[in-house]
Amino acid sequence: MKNTVATFRKAKEDGKKLSMLTAYDYSTASLLDAAGINGILVGDSLGNVILGYEDTISVTMEDMIHHGAAVARGAKNALVVVDMPFMSYQGSVYDALKNAGRLMKEGRANAVKLEGGVEVVPQIEAIVQAGIPVMGHLGLTPQSINAFGGYKVQGKDEAAAQKLLDDAKAIAEAGVFAIVLECVPSALAKKVTEAVPVPTIGIGAGADCDGQILVYQDMLGMFSDFTPKFVKRYANIGEAMKAAFKGYIDEVGEGAFPTAEHGYGISNEVIQKLY
Ligand code: KIV
Ligand code: NA
Repeated sequence: MKNTVATFRKAKEDGKKLSMLTAYDYSTASLLDAAGINGILVGDSLGNVILGYEDTISVTMEDMIHHGAAVARGAKNALVVVDMPFMSYQGSVYDALKNAGRLMKEGRANAVKLEGGVEVVPQIEAIVQAGIPVMGHLGLTPQSINAFGGYKVQGKDEAAAQKLLDDAKAIAEAGVFAIVLECVPSALAKKVTEAVPVPTIGIGAGADCDGQILVYQDMLGMFSDFTPKFVKRYANIGEAMKAAFKGYIDEVGEGAFPTAEHGYGISNEVIQKLY
């Protein structure tokens, strides 16, 4: 059954945990969908894991549309959320609305996600009013990396913790259907989860969130530029890929691949007539 924002709301009511992972392409999205994931985030983390940037700042609307549409084609039942990239919504409500619309029309998203609290409430309200579901994102918001001065836990002192709680209430009031909490102390994430009527989706935010999300390359062991403490490795696919690549390289080198079974036949008669 197709997961919708209504599914997400109901999961919180019923106390059922929501699972999300990222994806950036059709075949991964198809596998996630077949495994029964609730939601797939086409994250701007694609800047890091797909495009090899150091941060998400350079990710464009075109990148998000390109990968969003690929994921949407593979996701039959998962809710597809596409990230609004840096500077596609911060500047004005008009930009936010126009770009959210593009992610829906061209990127085939079911919902968009944007980073920030009270400062983006007008944008959230306008996008929601246009009939586009919005997911919020608080705590470590990677698009503000240059303001933070590094990837670190957010909301640790009283002022920062209160601000995070206030931000969560403000964006929930503005109409987000869910809130990602990234790199937030577990007890604070619990407090936020109890304070808002919409599901919280944690990444490095403890077990009391209403759901969890990870970047799929991190949890599969496919990306090792850096591995945050919150990542759990469910497989070592990176090693499996390297072993398979090496096996292929060796066999090609030795002439052991391909064999007759991988080739196509033609009658000897035809071959003999050639001059
Ligand atoms: O871009 C992304 O992958 C994200 C998740 C880490 C929440 O925003
Ligand atoms: Na993101």
